[in-house]
Amino acid sequence: MAKGRKNGLYGGVSEELSALMRTGWADTERHGLEPDEQAPYAARRRAALSARFPGERLVVPSGNLKTRSNDDTYPFRPYSGYVHMTGDQARDGALVLEPRVDGGHDAYCYQLPRDSRNDDEFWTGATAELWMGRRRSLAEAARVLGLPCRDVRTAAEDLAAGSGVPTRIVRGHDPALEAAVTTDEERDDELEEVLSGLRLVKDAWEIGEMRKAVDSTVRGFTDCVGELSRAIASSERWIEGTFFRRARLEGNAVGYGTICAVGEHATIMHWTDNDGPVRPGELLLLDAGVETHSLYTADVTRTLPVSGTFTPVQRQVYDAVYEAQEAGMAAVKPGAPFRDFHEAAQRSLTARLVEWGFIEGPVDRAYDLGLQRRFTMAGTGHMLGLDVHDCAHSRTEEHVDGLLEPGMVLTVEPGLYFQPDDLTVPEEWRGIGVRIEDDLVVTDGGHENLSAGLPRSSAEVEAWMARFAG
Ligand code: GLY
Ligand code: MN
Ligand code: MN
Repeated sequence: MAKGRKNGLYGGVSEELSALMRTGWADTERHGLEPDEQAPYAARRRAALSARFPGERLVVPSGNLKTRSNDDTYPFRPYSGYVHMTGDQARDGALVLEPRVDGGHDAYCYQLPRDSRNDDEFWTGATAELWMGRRRSLAEAARVLGLPCRDVRTAAEDLAAGSGVPTRIVRGHDPALEAAVTTDEERDDELEEVLSGLRLVKDAWEIGEMRKAVDSTVRGFTDCVGELSRAIASSERWIEGTFFRRARLEGNAVGYGTICAVGEHATIMHWTDNDGPVRPGELLLLDAGVETHSLYTADVTRTLPVSGTFTPVQRQVYDAVYEAQEAGMAAVKPGAPFRDFHEAAQRSLTARLVEWGFIEGPVDRAYDLGLQRRFTMAGTGHMLGLDVHDCAHSRTEEHVDGLLEPGMVLTVEPGLYFQPDDLTVPEEWRGIGVRIEDDLVVTDGGHENLSAGLPRSSAEVEAWMARFAG
């Protein structure tokens, strides 16, 4: 009799139960599957990766489940570099690019295959399909991904056996695979840097996914406005939950922790407790993004007067942020230095802060010293895609020190934040936080604002709320 689980209510597994469980199952292999529509795009991305590392074996793991407690796990999120190169989201997978003598690579993918029904693993094992859900067979995965697929349970052995081939692995996702290969940390970091850089310019399929993410997000924001009266009777959580429902219904989830910040919570950049009251007369800063089934995320912020109209001071702050966003967006065009949009928005905000007497001018001096940062806090935007702060590991020269190119997707999100205990501003200003954040794709002629479906100016916001506020 095999031993049962510690503190499990069942005893062990008798021979007869084991035999009973192994029999009587239908063949559920799926035939006639079509390749995923992303497969040809992923193949082109792999070709670009291959060209950067001739003669070297590259290992890009998807990652493993993380235990939360005992047999409970955190939701799995595959490494974005793996998703980009394969279109796959399986855990315990790995893409391998095996060097060929001609300088190219042969690609294949390790996958955790279906469980055999000839032993007890399929219903008692740590990754038992009977508990966790059906996986794809290796043949099914090969068909869908357009890549040969191998059993990941032999990956460590295979890779260790081929240890004569110079190898790089992306670290931090699969300790067992890392232990199986001998690599150099600096060279591994270069692999991650290249993978991150290959995501800077999105292909047509990715832009389509970004549109879906943003369109769902626009609907999510409209849902939240429609729930305002119920939120007033409840808390910020009501709004968070309303957006989450849209994200789960239309996509995979939210792409990052929703920031649902009313009143002075809006001055906390990473406010995600979302447990405060929703008071008429205050501003609601809602920063949220739907992540598609393919794992691309939007990242949008609107700052809305809970009661439908801005007070004079709220409007003054809002209009200054709007003006800065307009200046920032105007700088988003191909060939422009990436930093230009940030500088344009920050200069605009600096000018207002000097005019209001909150920092000492002249504007150029204040800007050069960065004095505005007391009130602007964050940078004006970032790349967006599979990660909310996408391409973060890419080479600085091709990212923040580089030029914008068609196909890049970025946020433009200036803000002003007056802390509730800031004695340098009049009392009426304290506790006001405003951010306006849109998602832009760089086009041949300039840019397209993907989130233009939401109102931006103070007058548009008020008109929109008058129409939709519930
Ligand atoms: N929601 C995170 C950001 O706006 O960057
Ligand atoms: Mn955001
Ligand atoms: Mn953002």
